[in-house]
Amino acid sequence: MLRIGMLTSGGDCQALNAAMRGVFKCVTKNAKEPVEFYGFEDGYRGMIYSNFRLLSEDDFQNILTVGGTILGTSRTPFKTINEPDEQGLDKVAAMKQTYYKLQLNCLVMLGGNGSTKTANLLSQEGLNVITLPKTIDNDLWGTDMTFGFQSAIDIATRCMDEIHTTASSHGRVFIIEVMGHKVGWLPLNAGIAGGADIILLPEIPYDIDKVVEVIENRDKQGKRFSIIAVAEGAISKEDAALTKKEYKKKLKNSPYPSVSYEIADQIFKATGKEVRVTVPGHTQRGGAPCPYDRVFASRLGAEAGSLILNKEYGFMVGYRNREMVKVPLDEVAGKLKMIDPNSSIIKEAKLLGISFGD
Ligand code: F6P
Repeated sequence: MLRIGMLTSGGDCQALNAAMRGVFKCVTKNAKEPVEFYGFEDGYRGMIYSNFRLLSEDDFQNILTVGGTILGTSRTPFKTINEPDEQGLDKVAAMKQTYYKLQLNCLVMLGGNGSTKTANLLSQEGLNVITLPKTIDNDLWGTDMTFGFQSAIDIATRCMDEIHTTASSHGRVFIIEVMGHKVGWLPLNAGIAGGADIILLPEIPYDIDKVVEVIENRDKQGKRFSIIAVAEGAISKEDAALTKKEYKKKLKNSPYPSVSYEIADQIFKATGKEVRVTVPGHTQRGGAPCPYDRVFASRLGAEAGSLILNKEYGFMVGYRNREMVKVPLDEVAGKLKMIDPNSSIIKEAKLLGISFGD
């Protein structure tokens, strides 16, 4: 008997169900022994508090196109994973206990950066773990692509497409705030796809005067409107020069709900133009996965299934240079895949006339 535990951890995204279905199909169709799949509810919490259910084929029917996760998810911050919970429970010991109680051969974890750190810890603690790279942010180290990313680009781009017509009618400046606190792959790609004039990213601190200059130049050229894609974590050059503590304090005392509103205010004061902010927010993580993500997540699921069948553990399944690869968890954990300001995509965007406010 092969017993496999599965959980989805951290912020959800599209194609989590498609990926789990991929694992299930691969293992059940190819295993030479009976298989049991246990689904932990709401991420690592399900493992800590022993909330799980035996999954049957029915659970995996008709979920390829369904957004969210059939298992539920939650954030279990890595930085407090070694601290006891409110009742004094040792979380890591509790997860190990659940794993051994169910006599699992392997745990499959679908998660992003923080969740992979916990997976690596469990692997170092002796559990057999395989992870799949989930996140709309595409910021996981060790893989060129994460699932959810392409679907989120579609949604953020659609938002920009729709804003374009109203921006043009009114001759306004529009800021679209795209998800991405630390890393800007999503705003960068949605910004290029959506024809943004300016893209502001966490990796490239902006100068507000440069942003204003672009808008004024567009005005002079008779362009009635400007579209700015702003990452949630976009940061000005001045703020980037602050210490972490000073920057946190600034954000805490800021009268603006987010950086986009601060930028909007600064642009209005400098140009007198009407500025509006649109925040698509969690819609970027919602709804059905796009066809790319369905294919990609299904392939990742099949690769994870093959690792299980070969008894190869301690890996994240990733995608590099158009090939599926297995990346050791201790190489992935704790590293972010950030945008290099000198990378070709940034150079190409600049050649297209897009400003990064730098
Ligand atoms: O999961 C990634 C992400 O969507 C980020 O892009 C975003 O900054 C964050 O999660 C939002 O977190 P929450 O869903 O907890 O508000």
